[in-house]
Amino acid sequence: MSGLDRTVLEKHQVSRRVALATLSLSPAVLWAADDAVSPFLKGIYAPVAGEIADDKLQVEGKLPDHLHGSYLRNGPNPRFAPKGKYHWFDGDGMVHAVHLAPSDTKVPARYLCRHVRTAGLEEEEKAGKSLFPGLMELPDLARVAKGRDGYKNAANTALVWHHNQLWALWEGGCPHRIDPKSLQTLGSDPLAGAWKGGFTAHPKVDSATGEMIFFGYSPTKPYLRLGILDKGGRLTAARDIDLPRSVMQHDFAITPDYAVFLDMPQTFSLANLALGKGVFGWQPELGARIGLIPRAGGQAKWFAISPGSVFHTLNAWQTAQTVTLIACRMPRFPAEVLAGGATDLPEAERPRLWRYEINLTNSKVTEGPLDDPGSEMPRMREDRISLANRFAYTLRTDFAGWRKHDLVKNTTIALNLPAGWSGAEAVFVATPGAPSEDGGHLLAFVQPPSGEPAQLWVIDAASFSPDPVARVKLPRRIPAGFHGCWVSS
Ligand SMILES: [Fe+2]
Repeated sequence: MSGLDRTVLEKHQVSRRVALATLSLSPAVLWAADDAVSPFLKGIYAPVAGEIADDKLQVEGKLPDHLHGSYLRNGPNPRFAPKGKYHWFDGDGMVHAVHLAPSDTKVPARYLCRHVRTAGLEEEEKAGKSLFPGLMELPDLARVAKGRDGYKNAANTALVWHHNQLWALWEGGCPHRIDPKSLQTLGSDPLAGAWKGGFTAHPKVDSATGEMIFFGYSPTKPYLRLGILDKGGRLTAARDIDLPRSVMQHDFAITPDYAVFLDMPQTFSLANLALGKGVFGWQPELGARIGLIPRAGGQAKWFAISPGSVFHTLNAWQTAQTVTLIACRMPRFPAEVLAGGATDLPEAERPRLWRYEINLTNSKVTEGPLDDPGSEMPRMREDRISLANRFAYTLRTDFAGWRKHDLVKNTTIALNLPAGWSGAEAVFVATPGAPSEDGGHLLAFVQPPSGEPAQLWVIDAASFSPDPVARVKLPRRIPAGFHGCWVSS
């Protein structure tokens, strides 16, 4: 990081003009101009250079009074030009923060962004270049032979707030702890070695118990492990889950009694990895199952379902006779997208909101679509996680807007952006005391065309009006990224 960047971040009191001076140093613009580079380094994916701050953001409209806190979003932003094949999943995690204080009319909104200072990034900073292979390539076997990680923990996928700590997550390795105000990296491995191996980017916080339920998966045994942190952040359970083979598990769900896993035939494939197609393969002939793992311990129960591919779940809940899981399901594993040769799928193969209902009496599963294809990054009111919920908010897979799904009426309404604009995952923040589940606001980064500065849109979740109640104008574009969260002050 340059001295200028450091000054920018440490003082948080810099004019927009000074902060943006770092942009002129960007190697990213060179990568973006090269037709031979990965599609994930161009257009809406192109990285930005330099960590900047801006404490004088212009706000159009009126920020709702209850939005007093920080919207935080993680995503890949490679610090150095990749040494080999680059995929969206490889870039160094960069956290973008918009701190909101609507009652403070002088400074209602501030922005800053900062890389997660992982050990791998520190090594690369010292070397002045990229040192690690991407996930589409073989791991660095020389490092593996020395007992070190063959890939870099990119800390680029998601953020979770639990026991007054903010963690940046990457499913192949341990979390990193981040200061939610300054975005300084406070350390890696906040569980101090108590949890070994991968740690999902999608832990679930149970608002009734305060627990954080999470898992890790691995190509070697144990293939899957379930972990539970109590509300104070102490590890109270770490249990192996028996699987016949290792399969990709990006997300899961919880009910008050169960952790709900999908055992889909998206298997580890060394053959694909050797061909530069990523580490996963698709073997539908192996069948698929949905599993209920008792949170309190005990025997898992598995139920046959149709083979499919799921990255993200919305939620799960239970009654005396049933367990319901809502997820974004594709009919097959999108190997070509993961291999980096394409950024989209044919319409019929795009993810769609999907309901699985397990009948606990006869062990049969009823499943089917809830909407047309083309929805991902599902979010909802967080305090309904593990309980029956009515509303889901998804991002269109072409980034052109969002959908609001009513799971009770089985209806969908769309909020489409102007042509050429792109949206991102929408995080729901409830209005305190609102009587309806959709009483609150959606926060999402929105990118105008042609690389103009991004905006944070604040959308009324109940009306789902295409006119946001407020638009916070940010100092520069923000690359397409992954998952965010809201941390109330
Ligand atoms: Fe994810």
